[in-house]
Amino acid sequence: MFESDRDAEGVRIELRALTKHYPGRPAPAVDNVTMDIPAGELVVFVGPSGCGKTTTMKMINRLVEPTSGEIRIGGRDVLSLNPDELRRHIGYAIQQVGLFPHLTVAQNIGLVPKLLGWPQPRIAARVEELLALVHLEPSDFHDRYPRQLSGGQQQRVGVARALAADPPVMLMDEPFGATDPITREHLQNEFVRLQKQLRKTIIFVTHDFEEAIKLGDRIAVLREGSHIAQYDTPAAILDRPADDYVAGFIGQDATLKRLALLRVTDVPATEPLPDPRLPQIAADASLREALDLMLAHGTDKCSSTAGVLSYATLCAAVGNRSREELVAGDR
Ligand SMILES: Nc1ncnc2c1ncn2[C@@H]1O[C@H](COP(=O)(O)OP(=O)(O)OP(=O)(O)O)[C@@H](O)[C@H]1O
Ligand SMILES: [Mg+2]
Repeated sequence: MFESDRDAEGVRIELRALTKHYPGRPAPAVDNVTMDIPAGELVVFVGPSGCGKTTTMKMINRLVEPTSGEIRIGGRDVLSLNPDELRRHIGYAIQQVGLFPHLTVAQNIGLVPKLLGWPQPRIAARVEELLALVHLEPSDFHDRYPRQLSGGQQQRVGVARALAADPPVMLMDEPFGATDPITREHLQNEFVRLQKQLRKTIIFVTHDFEEAIKLGDRIAVLREGSHIAQYDTPAAILDRPADDYVAGFIGQDATLKRLALLRVTDVPATEPLPDPRLPQIAADASLREALDLMLAHGTDKCSSTAGVLSYATLCAAVGNRSREELVAGDR
């Protein structure tokens, strides 16, 4: 996994009977977890506080040593590697940010590239690129210290630092948790866009099921001990939650969430030609946005460059729900 990190696509991560028993605790924090994370996929861990999400992640980059079990990344046995060397090749954005207080924003972001021996001009260029990416004006933020930033700004620097050396594997523990909803949405959108290009293997922890649906190729809903309640694509989990526990995470508005997963172009147009007299929606907008637009205009059709979309098509896409059910029923 190390030879060609730069521009490297993700590699497969395999967890086998992975267990962590912290000394003095009655039950293991992570209990016999077996899971495959396919190369280039973003897998979201969702589960209640204390169920073992952070512990599972920290075993993958060996900030926590497993009690038993195996971890392989790109086929290599992680437990046989040098931990410091390993961590340089895994991007890590942690819950508490963890910036070095005595280093500037630029030095924090450039830390791992520097350890990897990148030439200074390449580090400088990468730092500028990443600051812009996380919406921090380089000239303003470059030389500040972490204490001179808000919590959300610190978190964005943390995300930039995790991306800095372009690692094939990223572990992200609630990386957007401290940001306001607008910044958060921006970061999520940027992240989706980036991941489409880069296809890294990412494990992403969140408490926010909407965020999980938006970002995840797959979602692992976890219980106490990191036990897997369900591990599947967002659409499959929304359609067929494995049990009441999983259904509880989805909440009451599964249909609206399914609409948010589908794009206007994912369903057949009622008429292939655009109609300029109808309310207009972007072709890459979600069906949920299309529904909102129809409701706002009191129409049962809207139009995009891909043609006319009808309310009936939208209903059919999520299983023929009645208008009442769709608009209010499941909220
Ligand atoms: N160093 C430690 N020593 C002993 N117990 C620990 C240690 N770190 C975590 N634990 C315990 O292990 C369990 C799992 O903790 P972990 O941090 O993995 O949970 P989490 O799912 O990340 O929770 P949160 O959503 O609150 O971040 C918890 O019961 C926690 O109290
Ligand atoms: Mg945690």
